Amino acid sequence: MRLSIYPPITNASGPNSVTREELERLAQSASGAVVTKSMTHCPRAGNPEPRLRERLPNNIGSLNSMGLPNLGYHQYAQIISHLKERYRKPLIASIASAPCPHRLDPIEQYREIATALEESGADALELNLSCPNLEEVPIAMDPQSVRHVLKAVTREVKIPVGVKLPPYNNTPKLFEEIARILLEFEIAYVATINSEPLTLDIDVKTRTKVIRPNDGFGGLGGPAVLPIALAEVHRFYRFFQKHRARIAVWGVGGIVTAEDAIKHFLAGASVIQIGTLYLWEGPAAFARLWAGVQEWLHANGYNSVEELVGTVKDL
Ligand SMILES: Cc1cc2nc3c(=O)[nH]c(=O)nc-3n(C[C@H](O)[C@H](O)[C@H](O)COP(=O)(O)O)c2cc1C
Repeated sequence: MRLSIYPPITNASGPNSVTREELERLAQSASGAVVTKSMTHCPRAGNPEPRLRERLPNNIGSLNSMGLPNLGYHQYAQIISHLKERYRKPLIASIASAPCPHRLDPIEQYREIATALEESGADALELNLSCPNLEEVPIAMDPQSVRHVLKAVTREVKIPVGVKLPPYNNTPKLFEEIARILLEFEIAYVATINSEPLTLDIDVKTRTKVIRPNDGFGGLGGPAVLPIALAEVHRFYRFFQKHRARIAVWGVGGIVTAEDAIKHFLAGASVIQIGTLYLWEGPAAFARLWAGVQEWLHANGYNSVEELVGTVKDL
């Protein structure tokens, strides 16, 4: 199922997309859609603070171990109904699973939340299968679990379903296995990458780690992950082309400048998302990036982003 996003730039789930006010601010911005924080069955306070270092030295990125702080899906269903009445832009509900007092298994959590959010008027769902900061291994690392979640959700809902994936880095067999499973379902898009997991920074003045949870280990976003994200976007794009799958690739990771965005489009992304940059620059980033992308297209003889998608040349 196709999902049309214009301009093809949105926020990435998480950064400043948790509260009603934050989501309203995104709805009023030049973002092509509003993507919510990943919501879970029960509200969550998340990990102990400090859990986010917004800016690492030399502006290489951000480091976080948030632990999915969110209002719980009941609240997001209400917020989405409210935003739906007031704004016309697509509302994308990001869904995650996490241990919860109701003891529902993850598949049941995804299914229940997906159904409720479709009813609330969400235009699409983004299944976050890749949260790096919970104790259990992300679902995206286990092919059978990915299959079960996708089966449960795609059976249940009619709105487009996207899947947020982690960087598979140097695990080509796992990448291929997951990519093949995606072909079995009606998936609108793959958003790649979630934060690069298991990264660490140290403050040499205090000789301490910069975040508290998980022994200081967290997920990396921002400029340092751009080449990782481009590689993931490109291999998913190539895989889907080869198998004639109509699954779009949404590029997330490392985008700060219009040139970074162009690289994502060349690699195969048809929509891009900004996470760390949104923390750094706020809503002004959307218009700045889009103006820069349009200028580049014009200067290089393109009429639209679509003409550029996936056209990177081999050397
Ligand atoms: C503070 C913070 C919270 C995040 N929370 C989520 C989340 O709830 N769900 C999700 O899918 N990704 C989450 N992410 C990952 C981002 O959506 C994005 O995939 C990652 O930061 C890479 O993009 P970037 O380089 O533009 O930051 C979070 C990232 C940050 C920095």
